[in-house]
Amino acid sequence: MALVNRKIGYDEVETRDLRFNMDSSKVSKYWYNNDPWNTLFMSAILAAVPDGERWVMQSARKQLEKLTDPAIRKAGIEFIHQERIHAREHDVMNKACIEHGIPLDDIENTFKKARMFLQKNLSISVQGGLAAAFEHFTAVMSSVLLEHPEVFKDTNPELVGMLYWHFVEESEHKSVSFDVFTDAAGGGNRAYFIRVATMASAAIGGAPVFVLPFAYLLYKTKQMTNFSSAKNLFEIQFGNPGVMKKVGKMFFPYFKRDFHPWDDDNRDVLHAWKEEYNKSGDTTAAFHALCDWAAKNKGTDFSYQESRPSIAAV
Ligand SMILES: [Fe+2]
Ligand SMILES: [Fe+2]
Repeated sequence: MALVNRKIGYDEVETRDLRFNMDSSKVSKYWYNNDPWNTLFMSAILAAVPDGERWVMQSARKQLEKLTDPAIRKAGIEFIHQERIHAREHDVMNKACIEHGIPLDDIENTFKKARMFLQKNLSISVQGGLAAAFEHFTAVMSSVLLEHPEVFKDTNPELVGMLYWHFVEESEHKSVSFDVFTDAAGGGNRAYFIRVATMASAAIGGAPVFVLPFAYLLYKTKQMTNFSSAKNLFEIQFGNPGVMKKVGKMFFPYFKRDFHPWDDDNRDVLHAWKEEYNKSGDTTAAFHALCDWAAKNKGTDFSYQESRPSIAAV
């Protein structure tokens, strides 16, 4: 019996050792469309990125020796390279936010302690199952955002270039943690049970893990009662285009026995970004190519080039 039911996408995984040198001039205080609630919501997620990346790469490394499939092992090594670079670049971006007085360091320190405690106390299989669950969340979020570049319409072009580089690579390697875990856990009922149990635990534990840091950031920046900004956030996340609503819909198939991350085959949008990036080497130009893709395929009435960059702190 094949341990892994689909094997498309491995040839998509490609390490790009990019340095974006994000600083407080490119990352304004409210970098996401000059909007506090959107920025702090996204920042609460991004605060988890450097340690989340360390979790998934260390987990993959621990499972490598158990792998029976050389193709998965090769993809696992490439995946570790990609995540190491993501962690490095998001560390730099988070520092720029901290310079503006957004206390991401408090959240990062809590995540770091939680990661070290859990890594000490959980089995390698359970750590692998949790890594696959985290990666599913980042993959579905990336998949939705790749198709909706308009939600970053007033964000600094270099910053948006970096964010979309990360979304692209999360999509490229979306099956790797899943396949590494499934192969290392031996497939079958055992792997399925751990996969479902770890995703259920991650989902139940995950809500407070993001809501509490978000509330903490709103409180520390005195934005809790900025209701017009709250409306902007709810419009993007639950209205139009409804990012979190779409993420929620893509989340549940994970519990199906025959689920595989590449069931959502989004190579079309990935290739729109890659074609431009491979030609120009410019992540902002590649983001513009995604805007053109969205206009053509989603009818998005939006031109990023005409929008203003994020220069003003609110
Ligand atoms: Fe990543
Ligand atoms: Fe990832």
